[in-house]
Amino acid sequence: MKKKKLVVLTGAGISAESGLKTFRDTDGLWEGYNIEDVATPRAWRKNLQLVLDFYNMRRKNVMEAQPNAAHIGLAELENDFDVHIITQNIDDLHERAGSTKVLHLHGEILKMRSEKNERLIYNIQDDIRPGDTAEDGAQLRPHIVWFEEAVPMIEPAIGLAGEADIFLVVGTSLAVYPAAGLINYTPQGIPKFIVDKKIPYTSSLHDIVAIEKSATEGVKELAALLQKLKM
Ligand code: APR
Repeated sequence: MKKKKLVVLTGAGISAESGLKTFRDTDGLWEGYNIEDVATPRAWRKNLQLVLDFYNMRRKNVMEAQPNAAHIGLAELENDFDVHIITQNIDDLHERAGSTKVLHLHGEILKMRSEKNERLIYNIQDDIRPGDTAEDGAQLRPHIVWFEEAVPMIEPAIGLAGEADIFLVVGTSLAVYPAAGLINYTPQGIPKFIVDKKIPYTSSLHDIVAIEKSATEGVKELAALLQKLKM
């Protein structure tokens, strides 16, 4: 029998228990940095070294982190569902936990690209330095979608949301668009769930089952609830 399509939108909260900082919690990344200084095209033009340092540090943090029970729990749902993860996270913890269909809306920290040609993308584990160039001779930059830049993967993400039989949201403040609007593209009446340590208040969250717990606990609870929905 065909498995139901389970579409999951994740954010920084799912990786918090792996030791990676969220953005908007107390002690989140945006408390220590000004978004304008590190995550915009203007910052890149103004202070390339600072932007590279910021993302070189993020890359080290990600490589030192391990997937937690929430990433693993979502990967295990593939036994019973056709699971598609749409993540705002730039880490690779969903992939390392075993999820096979992961769409990164905001880019990937373990990739870099030409600053002139967004299709010239390379894997990277070490630092990116000023003067490191792609094959077109242009400076290499992190493969990250910055504020004020287009989000190319939003189109396939909207397509997935529209085909969902069940929709889950895990660990995101739903503060950043267009990602936060994806829930509005889900078919009417499908079961929807949100897991977050502090459920965000937004008008799109009507008609949704809210599990106000940490990602690891909440995903475990969710997996039990989903057993009843798999047929
Ligand atoms: N378990 C579950 N949820 C958690 C946990 C946890 N252990 N810790 C924090 N959270 C929740 C917070 O309550 C909050 O709702 O995770 C959410 C984190 O929100 P943000 O820090 O805003 O992260 P996110 O929603 O992923 O941010 C979206 O903003 O700056 C950009 O590009 C960046 O992709 C990011 C986007």
